[in-house]
Amino acid sequence: MALEVAGLVKSVQPKSVSILGSTGSIGCNTIDLITRSRDKFNLEALSANNNVDLLAAQARDLNARLAVIANPDLYRDLKDSLSGSGIEVAAGSEALIEAAARPADWVMAAIVGAAGLAPTLEAVRRGATVGLANKECLVSAGEIFMNEVEHHGATLVPVDSEHSAIFQVFEFDQADKVERIILTASGGPFRTLDKDSMARVTPEQAVAHPNWDMGAKISIDSATMMNKGLELIEAYHIFPIDEPQIEILVHPQSVIHSMVEYVDASVLAQLGAPDMRTPIAYAMAWPERMAAPSPRLSLAEIGSLTFEMPNLDRFPALRLAREALRAGGSAPITLNAANEIAVHQFLTGQLGFLEISETVEKTLEATPVSSIHTLEDVMQADEEARQKAQSVC
Ligand SMILES: NC(=O)c1ccc[n+]([C@@H]2O[C@H](COP(=O)([O-])OP(=O)(O)OC[C@H]3O[C@@H](n4cnc5c(N)ncnc54)[C@H](OP(=O)(O)O)[C@@H]3O)[C@@H](O)[C@H]2O)c1
Repeated sequence: MALEVAGLVKSVQPKSVSILGSTGSIGCNTIDLITRSRDKFNLEALSANNNVDLLAAQARDLNARLAVIANPDLYRDLKDSLSGSGIEVAAGSEALIEAAARPADWVMAAIVGAAGLAPTLEAVRRGATVGLANKECLVSAGEIFMNEVEHHGATLVPVDSEHSAIFQVFEFDQADKVERIILTASGGPFRTLDKDSMARVTPEQAVAHPNWDMGAKISIDSATMMNKGLELIEAYHIFPIDEPQIEILVHPQSVIHSMVEYVDASVLAQLGAPDMRTPIAYAMAWPERMAAPSPRLSLAEIGSLTFEMPNLDRFPALRLAREALRAGGSAPITLNAANEIAVHQFLTGQLGFLEISETVEKTLEATPVSSIHTLEDVMQADEEARQKAQSVC
């Protein structure tokens, strides 16, 4: 590809890209953008957990060099699906790390849950530019993760729509002039439901988010509003700001993706239709911009934007996340691990909806806060919290 700059012809190399979690909601949206601009990207590595068919189809379609399936039992299936393609195949958790270690300029971290931590850190440690969707990385290992980003000269561009919004309007060279970050939240599908009705909701009702089409785990997190709690912790680690300066505001239309208020009382916001391809495109092209096919925003059609304070009685997850962030040490790891267990139990019919946050609260109460210095400390605290959560729910 060639670009004309002031009469000179400058060659522009395609960007090499790896997608960890390519078969999920974020992964598929990333693939969609790449498919629309094939000449701008080369696919290095793709990964999935179980979805062999989709992984193999993506790898063939985009001519990836490596396809990794995390579930080692599915190695043979993937190998058969890709036979004759020349695409390398690997399986297991070590292979996920190998995928992240491949020399891609840009890595999408879109594995769900704490399982994404080790491979994402691997990409960070080789100084890659990482589009970070996996918020659980920062919740469970925020300080270690951000220290590694700095130490290895990696670049982190947030993909979560709220953090992408803040990133776009945060004046990093005047961080001391920021008074507040206002994280917006849709309020999820049960924003107006009373507690008795919330106790009876089914997994099918809970995954049906009113504005966003997302994977099952984050959809449940949005319904309990734990997602906003995790995002609070994520924002604390990404941006140079203290916990009390981060506020949460319910905005059911999901048009204003978040805001930053400065000392002169100016509030800067980023707006857009709720379509993850916009923040993904921003992260892929940063510091430039690329086209995204997301619907264009028509404020006249929407008519009005509304706002309200979150209800901490019906959505205790928000309170628990803030308390865990304040407690520090292992508390956010416990919060995240207990939540992953409880969400899984809810999705498989073993827990009621309100019991998700109750399980997280009981696990936090039953787990003393310990200091966290290393990745091994994170893994140990994560494992202990998972066991504790299983025993209290
Ligand atoms: N979806 C959104 O709109 C959105 C927005 C903001 C942030 N995020 C964050 O982005 C991350 C991904 O969300 P998502 O909605 O795309 O999730 P998803 O649809 O459930 O996809 C998760 C991806 O991770 C893979 N995966 C699952 N468990 C794994 C494991 N143990 N080891 C290796 N790979 C594993 C899945 O493979 P299989 O397909 O084979 O299961 C899939 O490729 C989450 O951290 C979420 O909070 C998502």
